[in-house]
Amino acid sequence: MNAQTKIKPSVTKVDMASFGKPGVQCLGYNTPILGVPAANDTYKFRDDVLRVIIGYLNSPAGDGLALIGPTGSGKTTAILEAAARLNWPVQSITASGRTEALDLIGTFVLMASNPGEQPSMRWMDGPWRKQ
Ligand SMILES: Nc1ncnc2c1ncn2[C@@H]1O[C@H](COP(=O)(O)OP(=O)(O)OP(=O)(O)O)[C@@H](O)[C@H]1O
Ligand SMILES: [Mg+2]
Repeated sequence: MNAQTKIKPSVTKVDMASFGKPGVQCLGYNTPILGVPAANDTYKFRDDVLRVIIGYLNSPAGDGLALIGPTGSGKTTAILEAAARLNWPVQSITASGRTEALDLIGTFVLMASNPGEQPSMRWMDGPWRKQ
């Protein structure tokens, strides 16, 4: 009999040994799921940046996290590397000054099922809801 069992993805406390911090825990998925970035094993976290990311993931309080710093200082990479080790899926969105909440959540658009058919207003999920 094949004893292999499929792990059901769920959010759990993940040990941070892969960050070089065994014994420290952070919320993540118990198994890789679609959208989890690949880790670069040579990447070294800055402790101050890692502390902010881990603090946020363990207690997001219904809010977002903004990393602010000069172009090319490693903001995106830090998020991708943390996500890779904690099995968080990542969706990358390029925002501009004109991006609004509804662009992310979703909006009603005029859409026809097939070319030439009568269009109607339909809800289209934004990237935040497409998980
Ligand atoms: N700790 C690191 N060690 C070495 N290279 C790094 C490190 N962090 C990031 N890099 C490299 O630096 C470059 C810029 O990193 P990244 O894109 O994460 O910066 P950013 O702060 O998100 O920039 P931007 O503000 O333009 O979005 C990338 O090529 C990345 O691979
Ligand atoms: Mg970036």
